[in-house]
Amino acid sequence: MLECNDKSLYTGITTDVQRRFKEHSSSDKGAKYTKVKRPLKLVYVEESSNRSIASKREYAIKKLPRKKKLELIKNKENNMSKKEEFLELMSFRHACKIFDENRKISEEDINYILEVARESPSSFGMEAWKFLVITNSELQEKLKPFCWGQAQITTCSHLVVVLAGIENLKVESGVVRSQLARRDMPNEKLDGYVDLYASHLSDTLSSDENIYHWSAKQTYIASANMMSAAAFIGIDSCAIEGFEKEAVEKVLELDTTKYQVAMLLPFGYRVKEQPSQVRSAFDDVVEFIK
Ligand SMILES: Cc1cc2nc3c(=O)[nH]c(=O)nc-3n(C[C@H](O)[C@H](O)[C@H](O)COP(=O)(O)O)c2cc1C
Repeated sequence: MLECNDKSLYTGITTDVQRRFKEHSSSDKGAKYTKVKRPLKLVYVEESSNRSIASKREYAIKKLPRKKKLELIKNKENNMSKKEEFLELMSFRHACKIFDENRKISEEDINYILEVARESPSSFGMEAWKFLVITNSELQEKLKPFCWGQAQITTCSHLVVVLAGIENLKVESGVVRSQLARRDMPNEKLDGYVDLYASHLSDTLSSDENIYHWSAKQTYIASANMMSAAAFIGIDSCAIEGFEKEAVEKVLELDTTKYQVAMLLPFGYRVKEQPSQVRSAFDDVVEFIK
């Protein structure tokens, strides 16, 4: 963000702040707006990880009233580094035990959280998961007794049931082949990959139970990402493993040859402030081997 000689504020994006500032300040390559309002002062910089995020942020800042823009500038000394910001959101996230029933997550925000799940990594890139998003209070009431009566199930804004794929991880389903084929390779190479998959996973694929355990492990990665994404936008969550799997699957009328429940993930807003996290010391859980 630049402050112009008439004190107005100009917002733009660039891949090189110093170069662009020079262009605005002293060349023909600057914006029309800034060209007639020199000298300029660089008053605010924010980093974004890619152009699309930067453009969205630019648009959002441009729409802010002047007072808010000035606040951004004023707080810049207090701006946290990205590393600190990430740690902050990790400690903001906690296992929320009860949500505010009067606050609902917007469609845009729940889609953001689910989009992060979709972007998550999976073994062999199989993405064998599925996410059921429940906002049906009757169904939530039916599920609650099979989830240790936990209040999160009915007080949350959105209950995401994380499903681990079973059938689609079996070679004979054809899904394995089609998932691998997305990488655009010759048929012989694709055959080789499918064979490698089948032989590498022969034990894992030997029973639905083994497939479930492998599949569920991967859904946990997507689940963790969803919880972090939620925390990033001020939304609370709670990983829930305390449920009777078969009973929950029955209530949801799942065909368990295709999908089985790995985790329940309620999202919403906390009713009250949370106690600070308890964690083991860094040195107790980390060991460097050099
Ligand atoms: C896989 C998994 C299952 C969990 N299941 C439950 C659960 O059923 N009910 C619950 O209240 N918390 C559950 N938790 C939350 C943990 O108890 C909690 O994350 C842990 O005590 C640390 O607290 P914090 O997340 O608030 O920092 C679960 C967490 C994980 C990772």
